[in-house]
Amino acid sequence: MNFKEFFSKQAEKPSGIFGRVVMSHIFEKGNADLNSFMKELLSPEETDHILEIGFGTGRLISDMAAITKRGIIEGVDFSETMVSVARKKNRKYMEKGRVRIRRGSFEEIPYSENSFDKICSANTIYFWPDPVDIAKKILKIMKPGGKLVIGFGDREQLREKPLSSKVFRLYSINDVKNILKESGFTSGIDVISKQGKSFILNCAVAVK
Ligand SMILES: C[S@@+](CC[C@H](N)C(=O)[O-])C[C@H]1O[C@@H](n2cnc3c(N)ncnc32)[C@H](O)[C@@H]1O
Repeated sequence: MNFKEFFSKQAEKPSGIFGRVVMSHIFEKGNADLNSFMKELLSPEETDHILEIGFGTGRLISDMAAITKRGIIEGVDFSETMVSVARKKNRKYMEKGRVRIRRGSFEEIPYSENSFDKICSANTIYFWPDPVDIAKKILKIMKPGGKLVIGFGDREQLREKPLSSKVFRLYSINDVKNILKESGFTSGIDVISKQGKSFILNCAVAVK
């Protein structure tokens, strides 16, 4: 395996000391502006029940939990390394029952229908085995009127980066809108973009 493939696999599912130290640092610093844009668009409210898929270091979870004082933020991530980093970061909220962090593949976890006010995921769509199936599941478990925010990088800019196409599937803004339409979202589908510190940040938004 060459370094490009190794790095791409670490981005998909961080592991070991490289995941804990290097990938955590990259997620915290490199994705900070996308995660703060996500928070702005999600506009968490005090009683919200929110799910984050693929939370990485758990920074967005802790930023939202500071606001959802009477709500619950749930997170699912299949990397043991990231689960341990995120649990440490969110310990005080977990002790109060305001944050629940679970290890597993989103695809495999049985969530109740109509149970989340908001669902979000940043920088994970590239790795979803079947994005339409995943978006269908998101739609099912979201409450009517619930909001989805999916953050992803600009396809052309990511193409310039040393990322393996065996691991990263890159999507255009239209691709992501089509995934949401195909999966059954009918309302409020939009992609909002803004210039971040080093990349264009894209957030796909849809309402159930
Ligand atoms: C590139 S990182 C992004 C982390 C964070 N959202 C951010 O923007 O900094 C992708 C994360 O999603 C997790 N992940 C990817 N696919 C997943 C899936 N199907 N189910 C659960 N976790 C997943 C990985 O373990 C990793 O922590």
